[in-house]
Amino acid sequence: MEKRRLKVAIDGPAGAGKSTVARTVARRLGYTYLDTGAMYRALALAAVERGIPLDDPVRLGEMVRSIHMTVRDDGGLFRVWVDGQELTDRLRDPSTDKAVKLIAMHRPVREVMVEIQRSLAREGGVVMEGRDITSVVLPDAEVKVFLTGDVRERARRRWQELQAKGVKISWEEVLDELIQRDRKDLERDWGKLVKLPDAHLVDTTGKTQDEVVAEILKLCEEKEIALHSR
Ligand code: DC
Repeated sequence: MEKRRLKVAIDGPAGAGKSTVARTVARRLGYTYLDTGAMYRALALAAVERGIPLDDPVRLGEMVRSIHMTVRDDGGLFRVWVDGQELTDRLRDPSTDKAVKLIAMHRPVREVMVEIQRSLAREGGVVMEGRDITSVVLPDAEVKVFLTGDVRERARRRWQELQAKGVKISWEEVLDELIQRDRKDLERDWGKLVKLPDAHLVDTTGKTQDEVVAEILKLCEEKEIALHSR
């Protein structure tokens, strides 16, 4: 029996471990991993490089419509190009963290991104993660997950990641930045982070990554069985 290639949508706040979990789930299922946060990050970098103010929705909207963004899941490494220039290595710089939360606020920017993201998922067989995937981008996703975790644990994880990269930043600064980003994610008029009734809540607090991955794979398996037995 031919297996149906599902759309798996994962939303959640920053630092919940979405990227690692989504990447691993995609690899285990033989699906494509799509990191929409990386796409917003690439836009933020492109805007800064082009000198476009991050509080100007009109000019930002024009920029988003005029650039060409290409993405690729390279065995779990999500790579992004804007107008042929690869930005992958700079997407997680702390300066990008600051810029991206501002650019992601604007509806003209989000509308274009949502279109691109939908087209990437059209064929199914994708694990897409972000903030508005279950609600706006892929409301038809067969599996929806809201991945969250205690804010202090999320900050600790993000701080460890930055330490490993040699970035000098205190845990308190990371926590503060995360609280601000959570606020921005929840405040947006359009595409804000919400837990929908049909999304499964997966709380990562105190769980290993393997446990979280297993929980999501089980949801996918159950969905496949339910679809086949219809
Ligand atoms: O998941 P992340 O930390 O890489 O996301 C970077 C930023 O992009 C974050 O400030 C929220 C925003 N974002 C968004 O608004 N919508 C998405 N679908 C994904 C990310």
